[in-house]
Amino acid sequence: MISGRTKVCALIGDPIEHSLSPALQNAAFQHLALDYVYVVFKVEKGELKDAMVGVRGLGLHGLNITMPHKIEVIKYLDELDETTKTVGSVNTILNYGGRLVGYTTDGIGALNALKYNGVDVYNKKTMILGAGGASRSLSFALAEEVKELVILNRTLEKAQQLANDLSSVLRKKAKTRAEGLNVENVRKELKDTDIVINATSVGMHPKENQTPIESDLLHPNLVVFDLVYEPLETRLIREARRIGAKTIDGLSMLVHQGAVSFEIWTGIKAPIEVMIKTAKKKLREGKN
Ligand code: ATR
Repeated sequence: MISGRTKVCALIGDPIEHSLSPALQNAAFQHLALDYVYVVFKVEKGELKDAMVGVRGLGLHGLNITMPHKIEVIKYLDELDETTKTVGSVNTILNYGGRLVGYTTDGIGALNALKYNGVDVYNKKTMILGAGGASRSLSFALAEEVKELVILNRTLEKAQQLANDLSSVLRKKAKTRAEGLNVENVRKELKDTDIVINATSVGMHPKENQTPIESDLLHPNLVVFDLVYEPLETRLIREARRIGAKTIDGLSMLVHQGAVSFEIWTGIKAPIEVMIKTAKKKLREGKN
């Protein structure tokens, strides 16, 4: 029941109509009988400043930030946690007694998703496809743990930039390399790769028939993690499953990064199973 004490968390972005976050977060709040509610505000490009004044004025407790505001929002915050400073984008904010603190939960969410699915990344050769926002967050989290991180991107310069940024801040020096995303490089690199992560939008609805890795290049010793969750079973996941590789789908990523946000806002361990069940149900219904 919403009351004068209810803590309000909100998603800010555009487009947001199809977000699964309200369903996920509210199911988690309700499951633990927490006096929190999660709502969604469509905030277009150019409206962020006013929205952030509103956040302070209304005393919202927590925020998720999505496209197109993940980078711009930084200038309206009072503080960033350490990882977020290096990654340079924010997807979660906590209003800590009037101080707005920014976090990025994609990287830790991805590590948690891998762990939850029984995958130990330590000392593994890992390949990440893509060099956009999602890849960036994941790369910073993974590079400290893995043996080698190879970033493949259609635009090579962006992968090189990311690899350079990584090598300048890493404590543990995982070998980090950048390559162009093409069949020859995928063939060459995939042979001795343990974990491959698709952080591009290839295979996403409405282009479900596309895949970033041709099926004859996949092998059964791989862990294939696809961040795309629409469709839930991408062509990449389907073909990897078919040849006996271990697969982790985008829903896992979505839930685990949301779970880290939940924990930042509440200080309580997120009910992962409830969130997974809710996300699956919503995706099946096709309307959210
Ligand atoms: P996100 O925040 O989800 O990472 P993004 O920053 O727009 O989104 O990044 C999208 C990623 O998908 C990029 O790495 C992009 O490659 P480019 O940097 O070359 O643009 C990649 N991508 C999108 N469409 C692609 C396609 N058809 N083939 C290969 N890579 C693609």
